[in-house]
Amino acid sequence: MTKSASLTFGDKTVDLPVRSPTAGPDVLDIRKLYGELDVFTYDPGFTSTASCDSAITFIDGDKGELLHRGYPIEQLAEQSCFLEVCYLLLYGDLPSKAQMEEFRTTVTRHTMVHEQMHNFFRGFRRDAHPMATMVGVVGAMSAFYHDSTDITDPHQREVASFRLIAKLPTIAAMAYKYAIGQPFVYPRNDLDYASNFLHMCFSVPAEPYEVNPILAKAMDRIMLLHADHEQNASTSTVRLAGSSGANPFACIAAGIACLWGPAHGGANQACLEMLREIGSVDRIPEFIERAKDKNDPFRLMGFGHRVYKNFDPRAKVMKESADEVLELMGIHNNPTLQVAKELERIALEDEYFISKKLYPNVDFYSGIILDAMGFPTAMFTPIFALSRTVGWISQWKEMISDPSLKIGRPRQLYTGPARRDYTDLETR
Ligand code: CMC
Repeated sequence: MTKSASLTFGDKTVDLPVRSPTAGPDVLDIRKLYGELDVFTYDPGFTSTASCDSAITFIDGDKGELLHRGYPIEQLAEQSCFLEVCYLLLYGDLPSKAQMEEFRTTVTRHTMVHEQMHNFFRGFRRDAHPMATMVGVVGAMSAFYHDSTDITDPHQREVASFRLIAKLPTIAAMAYKYAIGQPFVYPRNDLDYASNFLHMCFSVPAEPYEVNPILAKAMDRIMLLHADHEQNASTSTVRLAGSSGANPFACIAAGIACLWGPAHGGANQACLEMLREIGSVDRIPEFIERAKDKNDPFRLMGFGHRVYKNFDPRAKVMKESADEVLELMGIHNNPTLQVAKELERIALEDEYFISKKLYPNVDFYSGIILDAMGFPTAMFTPIFALSRTVGWISQWKEMISDPSLKIGRPRQLYTGPARRDYTDLETR
């Protein structure tokens, strides 16, 4: 049966084409609405709006399902690795052995940053948040890599993608080293992607550093679980910035800025800081009450999601990794962990959280792992940013190669004063 929809407004009716996706709800194409009925749709927060076509990631929020190019996140987390998922997101299919080898070599060969970028870092205060440094340095990549900013050239777009995926861990690690006053550590191309990041963060020139393979595996999994997530706020920011023709480095810097907010990627830092602020299990009821209080802006960080209304499939896998890492580090009973476990238990049984479908999200568990690995809370969101870069750039590439690309330009419901005449200062 062909589906149809029509909308009557005043004395006019317009037929709205219905488009059916591979998975998920049908979409009403309202592009002709304004032209034919002189009316806009109103959807602040985009709760019912599909902003683009995309073949990259699919989420079923009711089922708690996340697919990248059709593959379930649980299978990818179990059987794949971050770099293979990068390939999948960028090119649409899993690579052959030869393709994977070539991709790995290419990314690995782009890990160093322009030496002059070291000076650029030194312009920041040492106490700058690493996300602030990253927004600045990634934006500045367009000043260092001119030969990959022509967005009309597919080869340059490809090179920009490699550079971003390869250099973001180096930039995040440099932001960390700069903040703690240690020398920058150059990447090691004999290490895998996650191990190299740990090496750049935790090794010092004065002594040898061995990357623990269990921590490297956990790091790789954190990266993989954050790689892409459909049209979330930062990805939509990257797309909107890119729709004007801005270069990819500027667009990714815009995405990093958006990710920083505590409702989005900043939640991992905010969550661990909240667990520390709660401090002990006996204070949990007080914070649960605050979270329920309409007059208190406090929210339980690491709980809730716009799309997932059953569970966050990434959180499930992340929880398993958290157990492994805590076991390895011999962390069984520290106060933060006790608070986290008890908070999770109470919130999952509490009527308020059940009725509003508020479950622990990916940020609830990732902070616990990163803390156990030795990262300060300020590094949690930069790690999210470097992991999401592949998602942002894949979505950006998809958008740029779409011949029907238009600049993103929402309209508004104007609530300001109606037209009025200017009056002289003397007469006001
Ligand atoms: N604690 C207490 N109440 C909450 C929470 C929370 N964490 N989240 C939502 N609610 C309540 C909210 O007060 C509202 O109640 P009511 O219907 O009575 O007004 C209801 O649940 C719906 O909330 P909403 O703000 O309309 O939902 P949203 O889809 O706009 O927001 C969210 C989703 C993730 C921003 C929100 O749940 C939140 O602020 N969570 C805490 C921050 C967080 O953990 N963010 C990470 C998200 S996952 C990773 C990522 O995407 O970056």
